[in-house]
Amino acid sequence: MKEGSRVRGYKGSKITVRTPAKINLTLQIFHKRPDGYHELETVMQSVDLLDRVGIRERKTGGRGQGRKENTISVKCFPKRFNVPENENNLCYKATELFLREAKLNGKHIEITLYKKIPPGSGLGGGSGNAAGCLKALKRLFPGNVSNKRLALLAGEIGSDVPFFLHGGLAVCKGRGERVIPQRAFVDFFAVLAVPGFSLSTKKVYENLPSLKTQKNTVKSSGRYSARLLQALRNGNFNALNDVLKNDLGKSRLDAMMVIQSIKDALVNAGAEGSAMSGSGSCVYGIFSSRDGAKRALKVLQYSLKSCTLFFTRSIPDGVRITS
Ligand code: C5P
Repeated sequence: MKEGSRVRGYKGSKITVRTPAKINLTLQIFHKRPDGYHELETVMQSVDLLDRVGIRERKTGGRGQGRKENTISVKCFPKRFNVPENENNLCYKATELFLREAKLNGKHIEITLYKKIPPGSGLGGGSGNAAGCLKALKRLFPGNVSNKRLALLAGEIGSDVPFFLHGGLAVCKGRGERVIPQRAFVDFFAVLAVPGFSLSTKKVYENLPSLKTQKNTVKSSGRYSARLLQALRNGNFNALNDVLKNDLGKSRLDAMMVIQSIKDALVNAGAEGSAMSGSGSCVYGIFSSRDGAKRALKVLQYSLKSCTLFFTRSIPDGVRITS
């Protein structure tokens, strides 16, 4: 059966969305807010490590058939990733929110995730999947939810979800949900090193040393994002290691020592800059040339045996419907 073709028992065709990973080129934390979140500024870039999300509406035979409530099923492959297939999956949350916003009842939505992005690695896999669901649902039920509302729903699901509706290079503010896309496309290669453990975002934040800085006391010249964007605009990859900064690396978790050793290995292998992505555990190395990245990959296969390595390239967009 060809993907996208009409199947008995299904309304319309299956929509497939490609959802990329992101890396945080900078992440600066200002202060803890009364709502418990941290006020931050981060520069994110999407890369071509891609998950695939399939969505379709079931016509008959679904659980809850004939009743008014919506039913949502999530299946995730490969099973070894242990991604929840229940209401804890961000795709479930995204679908539930979308159907409520669109005032749709009695719908049976089936979601299938084909994952390559390791969960709990700071690469935003789950957030991208959720953004992909929103985009697919908007295609499936056009006219019900505006783009503006879709972006607000994305922010309700998680701080990183709105970024994936844009992708490319973007500065994100607030708790991460306010996205300012950057027009220039910066083409580079990134080797991602994912150690054999994942990190809980909540725990990484909880173990930060006390924060005194208020956002309005940080001048533009003190912003990590300003310095990073300047280096990228000038094509100054030599300066990259000094401007890739992530405050979450200051978290007092033992794992941060392992993260530091992976960063060192990436720089020793020739990366022009290296940093942890988001709340980890992934550490990436940036390369201006494909050859440099490929050479490093060969070395790292021996020096970082405990990590899964991915060869990636920056891409100019976020979630995209492919069929
Ligand atoms: O928004 P998201 O659900 O991805 O955040 C996961 C957790 O990370 C939050 O519950 C919070 O503990 C922490 N977080 C934070 N400040 C942010 C983003 C996330 O404290 N700006």
